[in-house]
Amino acid sequence: MWRGQGQRPPSGGRRRQAADGQARPAPPPAAAAEGAGVGVAKRARTKAAVNVGVVGLLGYGEVHLGECRAHPGARVLAVCDLNRELAESAARKHGVKQVFSDYREMLALNGLDAVVIATPHFLHYPMITDALAAGKHVLCEKPLTIRARDADAVVRLARERRLVLSCNYGLRLSPGVRALREIVKAELLGEVYHARARWLARWTGFMFSEASAWRTAKSKAGGGILVGRGCHLIDALLFMLGHPPVRRVFATCHRLAGFEVEDLAGMTLVLAGGATLDLEASYVLNEPDFADETCYTLHGIKGGASARIGGAQDQAVRGGRLNLATGTWRELDLEPILQEAARPQPKTLLPDFVDSIIEGREPLVTGEQAALVTRLIEAGYQSAETGQAVEL
Ligand SMILES: NC(=O)c1ccc[n+]([C@@H]2O[C@H](COP(=O)([O-])OP(=O)(O)OC[C@H]3O[C@@H](n4cnc5c(N)ncnc54)[C@H](O)[C@@H]3O)[C@@H](O)[C@H]2O)c1
Repeated sequence: MWRGQGQRPPSGGRRRQAADGQARPAPPPAAAAEGAGVGVAKRARTKAAVNVGVVGLLGYGEVHLGECRAHPGARVLAVCDLNRELAESAARKHGVKQVFSDYREMLALNGLDAVVIATPHFLHYPMITDALAAGKHVLCEKPLTIRARDADAVVRLARERRLVLSCNYGLRLSPGVRALREIVKAELLGEVYHARARWLARWTGFMFSEASAWRTAKSKAGGGILVGRGCHLIDALLFMLGHPPVRRVFATCHRLAGFEVEDLAGMTLVLAGGATLDLEASYVLNEPDFADETCYTLHGIKGGASARIGGAQDQAVRGGRLNLATGTWRELDLEPILQEAARPQPKTLLPDFVDSIIEGREPLVTGEQAALVTRLIEAGYQSAETGQAVEL
């Protein structure tokens, strides 16, 4: 059985309590000297499937489980959840033999190659660190970590170990987002100097239910809608625009009385070339024209394009050009791009993650890109707190 390069036994449950009271991972063993920072190790030629363990099964972990079972190159070797009954029932449903309630025990399992983490945000950093230290490739749910310094640390560790580290910014798979990315790549809009993204929800259940209490606890979620859904908007906009450097962040947050975290966030990112990206996200905004959808608009010097994802107009993509002299609007012919973007996609980045391990290549969402989103969110909260823009 192939094993990840630089594989070491898991950290065996050594845990420390940080000054902020959060569980911190044990310090990782010294980096494997060979190949440090050179990218992902090429997998040894083998027909064996990538053996995956999934941690956190109540919500999105179950979706990853389904994707993993459908992938011919992957096998779910183990499932893990603090709630043992839930883990056992998921194992029965998906025909998985190994069941754990302690992820560190799962990491010690013989033959485990990769781990998918779908637990509350505050657990991402210790779980990613322990998994990488144990020589496992990692796909983590968003956000990569709560703190930017932790995100940088796990990215460094993955590079040192030449392991794949990816984050499930799955909106990149939606036809609307993929179409806008292709429209920008084809230079149909010219230089994009302004972009907007909006995501409004009526997640009253999430705000008030007991099962989701971690989402409204600052120490466990890291914040509210900005880190919960704003992170998707940031990632999708940067992806569409080809990851241009961000220079400045300004954000505002609103918190409903009685809540620790914000229900509404607005954010402006200023790019190195001066372009501005505006984001708005809310869990429970009083909105008369409510549609549970994410909307993106890109404004370029030659044209503009927009996409709506979810709601009645799911994946509706339009683009056109304004004739400045006559004021007339001409629609762009986007048919070839839309057809290509509409090709069926998986529900999560799990297949891309597994393929990147097999092929020894970068995943669609790299650790660095996910770490940048975390850094921008951290800067956003700092800006909202101080009322000042944050320079990066
Ligand atoms: N990509 C997306 O579109 C998307 C959508 C929903 C959630 N998410 C993300 O998925 C992650 C989990 O969210 P969710 O909605 O599935 O949460 P959830 O609360 O529904 O499920 C979390 C699961 O983790 C388990 N868990 C908690 N502590 C654990 C531990 N120490 N060891 C093992 N298991 C533990 C819980 O028992 C629960 O089963 C979050 O990062 C969230 O942001 C992503």
